[in-house]
Amino acid sequence: MDFITYEQEGFVGVITINRPKALNALNSGVLDELNSCLDAIDLETTRALILTGAGEKSFVAGADIAEMSTLTKAEGEAFGKKGNDVFRKLETFPIPVIAAVNGFALGGGCEIAMSCDIRICSDNALFGQPEVGLGITPGFGGTQRLARLIGAGKAKEMIYACANVKADEAKALGLVNAVYTQEELLPAAKKLAGKIAKNAPIAVRACKKAINDGLDAPMDEAIVIEEKLFGSCFETEDQREGMGAFLEKRKVEGFKNR
Ligand code: CAA
Repeated sequence: MDFITYEQEGFVGVITINRPKALNALNSGVLDELNSCLDAIDLETTRALILTGAGEKSFVAGADIAEMSTLTKAEGEAFGKKGNDVFRKLETFPIPVIAAVNGFALGGGCEIAMSCDIRICSDNALFGQPEVGLGITPGFGGTQRLARLIGAGKAKEMIYACANVKADEAKALGLVNAVYTQEELLPAAKKLAGKIAKNAPIAVRACKKAINDGLDAPMDEAIVIEEKLFGSCFETEDQREGMGAFLEKRKVEGFKNR
């Protein structure tokens, strides 16, 4: 791959968007490679993912403006669909994905971070949707996910006024869970991913699905989504081990994802 690197450390996979000369901007090649990278992940052995950007300046500085500059209406729509399809794959990926936002997260960069389950960032991070300054709307889910994450009023201010927010404000808005120094960021992401990976994988995946699917449903249906996923955990080896360990007052002997 030219633009994506993937490393596996135990149960945790680290995906790095690696196009630092263009501040990791998302062109079609990056989107295609990210799609292939996700397809190739072994879900038997991988329990959590981290998504980050190469270099110390930028997570992702947006969709590639040079590539977009000459698109027709139909091509623009198709490019939006291409990004949306990959980001939705990430959002609904069976295992949790942590965005380790190490700098600029603008346009498509903010949008890809919002497609992850959890966001943490470095203190030099900058979040924003500067698209209207380029004559377009956000195109990879920004109008939808930002409003859902931080509320419509603040999302509209950020989007209409191209009002970027720095790391601390992003934390105050709930856009990120925590802010670290540049050096601390990846170790913190790995520590969190490691904590997730220690827990029963079938249960963690069911929680992700329950939260994601339930958020889109009315409460009466949402609660049934949870009931079904709750039920699906029973009779698994890991449920028996988890509860058995509690009852026998001993530590879990490592969940098996079975
Ligand atoms: N697309 C293509 N190339 C980009 C890029 C982008 N989104 N962002 C940065 N680059 C390139 C620059 O063109 C430059 O390339 P050259 O060295 O070949 O000239 C290189 O990355 C370094 O960038 P700068 O020299 O501009 O670096 P800087 O430190 O002065 O500024 C920045 C950094 C503020 C992030 C600035 O690069 C910038 O404003 N980038 C664009 C941010 C943006 O508008 N993103 C939204 C894109 S639209 C979108 O994402 C639509 C959507 O929702 C799908």
